[in-house]
Amino acid sequence: MKDGVILSIDQGTTGSTALLFDHAGQIRARAYSEFSQHYPKPGWVEHDAEEIILVTMKVIAEALRTGGILANDIQAIGITNQRETVVLWERASGKPIGRAIVWQDRRTADTCAELKAEGHTELFQRKTGLVIDPYFSATKVKWMLDNTPGLRKRAERGEICFGTIDSWLVFRLTGGKRHLTDYSNASRTLLYNIRELCWDQELLALLEIPAKMLPEVRPSSEVHGETDPQMFFGTRGIPLAGIAGDQQAALFGQACYQRGMAKNTYGTGSFVLMNTGTDAVVSQEQLLTTIAWGLGDQPVEYALEGAIFVTGAAVQWLRDGLGMIEHASETRELARSVPENEDVYFVPALAGLGAPHWDPYARGLLIGLTRGTSRGHVARAVLESMAYQTRDVIEAMERDSGITLKELRCDGGASVNSVLMQFQSDILGVKVEVPSIIETTALGAAYLAGLAVGFWESRDEIANQWDLDVRYHPRIDEAKREKLFKRWHRAVELAKGWAKD
Ligand code: G3P
Repeated sequence: MKDGVILSIDQGTTGSTALLFDHAGQIRARAYSEFSQHYPKPGWVEHDAEEIILVTMKVIAEALRTGGILANDIQAIGITNQRETVVLWERASGKPIGRAIVWQDRRTADTCAELKAEGHTELFQRKTGLVIDPYFSATKVKWMLDNTPGLRKRAERGEICFGTIDSWLVFRLTGGKRHLTDYSNASRTLLYNIRELCWDQELLALLEIPAKMLPEVRPSSEVHGETDPQMFFGTRGIPLAGIAGDQQAALFGQACYQRGMAKNTYGTGSFVLMNTGTDAVVSQEQLLTTIAWGLGDQPVEYALEGAIFVTGAAVQWLRDGLGMIEHASETRELARSVPENEDVYFVPALAGLGAPHWDPYARGLLIGLTRGTSRGHVARAVLESMAYQTRDVIEAMERDSGITLKELRCDGGASVNSVLMQFQSDILGVKVEVPSIIETTALGAAYLAGLAVGFWESRDEIANQWDLDVRYHPRIDEAKREKLFKRWHRAVELAKGWAKD
């Protein structure tokens, strides 16, 4: 077993986590801290990029302290991050321009509607693998350039940098020496040509985004630079050697290295990714084609992605919006208190519907209520909705890729909920597997960094470390499965278009 640890920085939407992994892939120390969310107007979501740096450095220091580990013991650093969120900053001073615009922000809905009306949908899909939606970075960058006086001119002169959160962290951790991102993050900007592996000049021109502000795009696993001692606890320069968007990092941490292997991460939303190897499968089903990773000079690998906007957030809504529960974990016992859903369905379109429906006008729906409906039914309907949405995107993936899923690897907070995991297996009709480490996002970033510096030798070595905790087998028959799923679709149809006029 090799000495030392790999530091993984998981910079997520609601908080930053620092984890220290040893050579066995076990967590030696962990620290987490939330940071402020800013909602200046309905539909707007912003972060303070400076606060992100402060909170991230704080959790790194705390993880080192609680683990009794010296910064000098860190062999390499891996970064994984909330994707698509846009930071602009001054190249010379490293100072952010305004607040970061977060992936959930819908302020550019009209710009996206115009781009679609002008007939650009096919162009963007062919080049970037994505659909035109405010979710991605491009229209957010355009919004900042359009709405900050003089900014576009400064960007044309090369004075302004754009980056997703990974770029921002790398720039600051290297003391402003490196302005780069990795393939997986670039592939979420709606500006990157995922086939030719370059920033796409035609798309940049269409959105009036100066190329000079873009980061260099590098492999997800390679030495990208070194930490600046002034920024990083006065230590020797530590290699920054792994970068990946959080969902791709989770796919890597789940050791989904073979074509057809898939994972689902249950967080605020859920993101199902299926490895499609070196094929960039064009979706006919409104799924996203995205770069999974690039390892050193090996060819990049792709994934199909189903982005589901609201899963865990619906449980938060039960807690904070309705006050129906005090803690998310109560949903398991509540759901268990009823034998089955008894026809109560919840469609969690609280922020419209993402893949495969992409209906921004859909709204949440609870249906099938009777005098006998209890909190248990509602909790059960909320948990089941996560599993139904997951099946929706997995079926679309199977049609797109021609690959039939054999099992689904699950991680993230809600993967500890046995009622949900059992139902997920029931409704998919395949095995659901939960590994012993469910922080697979951070683990994936650590693996990417460790591979680049020789801390781990190969993907085979990593795949052997993948350790199963629980395996769920389907327990309901086909007729029941289809009956439940058909009813779910009736509910989804009712929720669609609700806020349109
Ligand atoms: O695409 C958005 C995704 O990367 C956000 O992940 O875990 O920070 O909510 P998370």
